[in-house]
Amino acid sequence: MTYISSRLAAVKPSASMAVSQAAKALSTKGIDVIDLGLGEPDFPTPAHITEAAYQAAKAGDTLYTAALGTLALRKAIVAKFSRENGLDYTTDEIIVSNGAKQIIFNALMATLEDGDEVILPTPYFVSYPEMAKLLGGKPVIAHCREEDGFRLTPEILDQAITPKTKWLFLNSPGNPSGAVYDETSLKALGAVLERHPHVLVLSDEIYEHIIFDGLEFISFAKACPQLKTRSLIVNGMSKAYAMTGWRVGYAAGPLPLIKAMATVQSQSITSVCSIAQAAGAAALEGSQEHIRTFRDAFQRRRDLVVKGINAIEGLSLRVPEGAFYAFINCAGLIGKQCPDGSVLSDDTAVTNYLLNEGHVAAVPGAAYGMSPYFRISTATSDEVLSEAIKRIAGAVARLKPAPKA
Ligand SMILES: Cc1ncc(COP(=O)(O)O)c(C=O)c1O
Repeated sequence: MTYISSRLAAVKPSASMAVSQAAKALSTKGIDVIDLGLGEPDFPTPAHITEAAYQAAKAGDTLYTAALGTLALRKAIVAKFSRENGLDYTTDEIIVSNGAKQIIFNALMATLEDGDEVILPTPYFVSYPEMAKLLGGKPVIAHCREEDGFRLTPEILDQAITPKTKWLFLNSPGNPSGAVYDETSLKALGAVLERHPHVLVLSDEIYEHIIFDGLEFISFAKACPQLKTRSLIVNGMSKAYAMTGWRVGYAAGPLPLIKAMATVQSQSITSVCSIAQAAGAAALEGSQEHIRTFRDAFQRRRDLVVKGINAIEGLSLRVPEGAFYAFINCAGLIGKQCPDGSVLSDDTAVTNYLLNEGHVAAVPGAAYGMSPYFRISTATSDEVLSEAIKRIAGAVARLKPAPKA
C-alpha cells in the first residue's frame, strides 16, 4: 500500500530536471559533462532590479500582499500590456503568481472538471500535460509537423476539439521548437475557435522578447480581440529579465477567471514574495536596454548552433525564430549502431548515447510529445556551445550504419 495520492500515479517528474540529474551523476565521477538540459538565461538579473528589491526590503516592504499581487506591480503589468502589446486590461484582470508555471497551475485548478480536455500542440512545454493530469484533466495531443514550422494548423485544431475541450494551450515563441505564430496564423486559429465558444485559450507568451531576425511578436489577444474574454495571456519575469529564481509570473484574463485563480492562490500560497514583486515592478518600469543585449546574444548563439548542427550528417535543425532552444531532428540516427554494439532505437537512446559517449546532456523529444528529436538549450556561452557541437559531431561520427537484418 502506498500513501502517495492516486492523482500522482500518471504524473512524471520534469524530464529536463531528470537529464540534469543524470549529467550531475556523471560529473561526480569526474567526467566533464556539458549540461544543455535546463533552459534559463545565463545572464545575471540586471542590477537596477536587484537594487529595487534591496530597497523594498529595507523600506519594510515585507508583509503579505493581496492575493492578486501588489497594486504597484499590477499597475506596471497593465502599463506593459498597453505599451508592448496594445492590450487594455484593468488591475482587477491581472494576477501575479510564483512564476508562469503557477499561473498555469492555478488556471487549471480553477477550471478543470474531471475528464476535461486540454489541447496541447506538439512539441509542448513538458509541464503542460503533467499539470493537466495532476488536476484531473485529460491532455489531448495535437500532433504538429515540422513542415508546418511546428505550428498548430486550423485543420489539426478543428479535429482536436470535442464537447469536452476546456482549454487550448498555445506557446509563442515556443519551447522547445522556437516557433513563432504571426498574426495571420493566430487569426486562422481564432476563426476555428469562434465556432467553439466553450473553449478557453491559454497563450503562454513568456518568450515574447526572445524573438529573432526582426520578427514582430503579437499577443494572441491582440490578434484575436473577439476571443479576449476567453483568453488567459500568460507571461512572466523569468526569461526577459533573467529572473528565473525570483519566481514572478503574471497573467491577464477575464474577471471571473482571475477571481477564481485568486481564490486558489489565497488558499494556497497567500501571495508572491513581496520583495520579488517590488523587483518585478522595477523590471517592467525601468530601462529595457538589456532586452536587446540578451536577444542579440541568443540570436548569435542560435546561428552558431544552426550552422554547427546542420553540418552533422544525420541531424537537422529548422531555424528557431525565438526562445533559446534548438529542437534537433535526429531521424537520421535512428537504427545506427553504437561502438558497444547497441542500436539507437529512439530519441531517448540518442540522448543517452550523447550523454555517455559525447558527455553532452540533452532532453529527448519524447518529453515534448514529438519524436525523434532532442532539445538542447542555447542559453550558454558561445564557447560552451561550440565545444558541445564538436562533441556531438564526434559522437555521431563514431556511429556505424544500421546492422543488416
Ligand atoms: C513555455 C514555458 N512556460 C513557462 C515556463 C516557466 O516559467 P516561470 O519560470 O515563470 O515559471 C517555462 C520555463 O521553462 C517555459 O518554457
